[in-house]
Amino acid sequence: MKRYPPISLKAPYFLHGADYNPDQWSSEVWDKDIELMKECHCNTMTLGIFSWAQLEPREGQYTFEWLDTIMDKLAERGYHAILATPTAAQPAWMSKKYPDVLRTGEDRRRCLHGNRLNHCLSSPIYRTKCAGMAEILAHRYGQHPALILWHVSNEYNNPCYCANCQNAFREWLKARYQNIEALNAKWWTAFWGHSYSEWDEIEAPGQYGSGHPGEWSIQGLSLDWKRFSMDQIIDCYSNEANVLKRITPGIPVTTNTYTAFYYIDPRKLVHAVDVVSWDCYPQYHDRSNDWLIAVEFSWIHDLYRAYKGGKPFMLMESTPSSANWMNVMKLKRPGVHKLTSLQAIAHGADTVQYFQWRQGRGGHEQYHGAVVSHTGDAHTRVFKDVQETGATLKKLDPIIGTTTVSEVAIIYDRETHWALDNTRGPRREKKNYIETNQQHYQSFWKHGLSVDIIHMDADFSGYKLLIAPMLYLLRPGVAERICQFVRRGGTFVTSYLSGKVDECSLVFEGGMHQALQACLGIWAEEIDALYDDETNRIRMCEENELGLHGEYEAHTFCDLIHVNDATAMAVYKHDFYSSQPALTVNRYGKGSAYYMAARTEQLFLDDFYQSLIRNLKIGRNIHAHLPEGVTAQRRTDGERSYLFLLNFTAKEQTIELGKENGLVDVCSGETRKGHIDIPAYGAHIYLIDSN
Ligand code: GLA
Ligand code: ZN
Repeated sequence: MKRYPPISLKAPYFLHGADYNPDQWSSEVWDKDIELMKECHCNTMTLGIFSWAQLEPREGQYTFEWLDTIMDKLAERGYHAILATPTAAQPAWMSKKYPDVLRTGEDRRRCLHGNRLNHCLSSPIYRTKCAGMAEILAHRYGQHPALILWHVSNEYNNPCYCANCQNAFREWLKARYQNIEALNAKWWTAFWGHSYSEWDEIEAPGQYGSGHPGEWSIQGLSLDWKRFSMDQIIDCYSNEANVLKRITPGIPVTTNTYTAFYYIDPRKLVHAVDVVSWDCYPQYHDRSNDWLIAVEFSWIHDLYRAYKGGKPFMLMESTPSSANWMNVMKLKRPGVHKLTSLQAIAHGADTVQYFQWRQGRGGHEQYHGAVVSHTGDAHTRVFKDVQETGATLKKLDPIIGTTTVSEVAIIYDRETHWALDNTRGPRREKKNYIETNQQHYQSFWKHGLSVDIIHMDADFSGYKLLIAPMLYLLRPGVAERICQFVRRGGTFVTSYLSGKVDECSLVFEGGMHQALQACLGIWAEEIDALYDDETNRIRMCEENELGLHGEYEAHTFCDLIHVNDATAMAVYKHDFYSSQPALTVNRYGKGSAYYMAARTEQLFLDDFYQSLIRNLKIGRNIHAHLPEGVTAQRRTDGERSYLFLLNFTAKEQTIELGKENGLVDVCSGETRKGHIDIPAYGAHIYLIDSN
């Protein structure tokens, strides 16, 4: 087992800090800021994210002095800087002088200057200017003692539909398909007479129902446009990252992202960066159970850790208070700030960073939470929360570089997500790919099991249990790799709407990928979509191999399947397909493959996975029973393991310890025996020494 090196060797401890915008303030505030940073145990500030206009107010005229001063002030205190390239917001002079740097929307209208991320992804001028700015920054600050990391741009997201981007798209397509006939075949363009004769007839797609004219009827086009746009984002990033790496090879480079950004395929992004960094904004206390929100965000943390093979990631942004873009800016209840920071660490973060250091007086984000609020001092609840979190982080340094070992993986794949959304049928709404994925995940979170969220090209071989809900699109070779995993003894679980289409959204002949059918031992005939208020039930068969009894609710999708080699474990109760299989298992090679034909209530998933966990002897992070809303996560270097007990409920919870007697509290040094009381929204971290 390995321990990863810290993000920067200059900082072999938890990074704790924020996006810092001194350029919005006069220099009198700066020294006060530095004092306040010390008070709340912050050590790392991210600078210059949107500062292009403050660094180059007129073309070729530079004003780096303020940044020099801040960098020096940080270094004097032994603090660190994450230095951003300011390219997420080009200055007004650039948009005015070179209008093709501006983004063009799906309606093919060029945006006016304003806001941010308002740039084209392929404009040659924009690319040249960005590379130029990266070069100047790298030369000026590359050797600066404060610098530990480059932060390129900020939250890349939407595509651009300008002529330059469309031409680049056509070139991308030529490289992918070589000739137009191949493209026509893969896109099934004979449909509605959409065949193309020349490359320049191809236009970026519109979206069905978006109100804009355009092509929305060809799924291959929509998928390829998204793939291309993602590649453009990577190109844009690399345009700057390559310069930074050439001039400062020792300084790692990242760009921060957010998983909800639909055009971002995390699989591609995380491979482009040296360290994954993501911006985490849960909205707690939104009147659903807080722990359900925690499940959702644990899932994202696990995705960002596992997508880069377990390497610790950076919590690059989080709000110490509330985010002003939320409909209701509910304040975080006492404890929640520290709890959610430790949650990120439990799942593999080696940093706790915030947006933002000091609340601005004006602009769109003037009421966004910040470490230093409009009061401008340390006498606030939020500041004290940050201070307490910082003090705790100082005790956690041995955790740096440890990772999570999971015997269970769930596949979430962005291309499958895009393909499902793009498909007309079997229901317009409630396909709910992410939500369904998170429901499967929830069954493990509740019982304190570690899970990797992986994409379909990841290596499956280290897992005992591989779960792929709604794995609709299969890239070449994936079905074969799943079969191999099962043949060698793995357990595979999949569901309705899986293995249906290839990478261009063409349905596999036979209705499902042949290799997957063989592995599952079934064939799928048709699928019934249910109305929102309709349900069916599934009834467990006697003596099924998981020992499950009784009935469960089925809703939304009921796949009508037939067994070939598989055994039915449950059947439908109602409708013309009553008694047809609803859950099957197939012995295949040395392993087993399960097929869940229907979408079910959560209770079914919980019972199903509990039995499977028991049968497969999958290790939990704690033997003790966990009350609802409490989870247990673990990080380890193979010898020392750190157990995180996290209580996402508003009341104190008690855990009766069994085999775990002798847990050493990392913060207090006390040994716990018998039971543990975790306060409302509390978090405890224990050392388990396997020696
Ligand atoms: C994003 C951005 C930040 C800030 C926050 C506000 O994550 O990266 O610049 O706007 O949102 O929540
Ligand atoms: Zn463009």
